[in-house]
Amino acid sequence: MSSDADPVLAVDDLRKRYGETVALDGVDLAVADGEFVAVVGPSGCGKSTLLRVLSGLEAQFDGRVAVGGTDVRAGGSDDVGMVFQEPRLLGWADVRENVAVGLPADVDPERPAARDRVDDLIETVGLDGFADSRPDELSGGMAQRVSLARGLAYDPAVLLLDEPFSALDRLTKADQQDHLLDVWERRGTTVVLVTHDVEEAVYLADRVVVLDGQPGTVASVVDVDVERPRERADPDLVALRREVTDALGR
Ligand SMILES: Nc1ncnc2c1ncn2[C@@H]1O[C@H](COP(=O)(O)OP(=O)(O)OP(=O)(O)O)[C@@H](O)[C@H]1O
Ligand SMILES: [Mg+2]
Repeated sequence: MSSDADPVLAVDDLRKRYGETVALDGVDLAVADGEFVAVVGPSGCGKSTLLRVLSGLEAQFDGRVAVGGTDVRAGGSDDVGMVFQEPRLLGWADVRENVAVGLPADVDPERPAARDRVDDLIETVGLDGFADSRPDELSGGMAQRVSLARGLAYDPAVLLLDEPFSALDRLTKADQQDHLLDVWERRGTTVVLVTHDVEEAVYLADRVVVLDGQPGTVASVVDVDVERPRERADPDLVALRREVTDALGR
């Protein structure tokens, strides 16, 4: 079984193609238990593909990908939660039911403790008052927050997040980022967050992995060696932002 030193996520020479399109070409990544890693890169460089492989959704790839010490093609760890780039809500279900879908399978969503947990999550993502609304009554940013609440409901050991804040305004985004940090710190969750937002990546992560190119490869890895709690305007963070932006070549 795995020891403490083993990475929770281990990616070795990952190559992934969709027909003629090579999405990822030789990606290596090791994420330690409790680490917060951000993945940035331009559109089409394979960020979502990487998360899909890590989550076990993509069984067709070359290389080795292990989660919790187990090969993902052999099932990996079942303690992995994913928040998708599109909200993927159930259209016929209200917000409360959509969040409850994320509860662990052995939890009865009708039990008072489960209902309280779901209501807490709805409040935390700033949607109190909308528990009975259906997805077609929500804005894009609201739907995205429902999806985030659903991902948090399971309280997984490993949380994979694909641009979870991209549709939010600046203030709502800052609130939700801090909430995610709070969950990460309290629960010791291992997080991989995909984002386009370099400021977000540097503010949140222990380490920023810069993917680039089509097919995507790791262009650079930037350590964010800044104590928490962090100030967004911290000059060290601003300098690291520049480093990541330079690595992105723009
Ligand atoms: N299901 C699929 N079938 C065919 N090609 C795909 C599929 N999914 C992704 N691709 C291709 O793989 C490459 C990487 O796509 P991916 O969605 O991982 O990029 P991304 O970095 O997440 O982009 P974005 O920032 O726009 O979300 C792209 O060239 C894309 O066209
Ligand atoms: Mg994507």
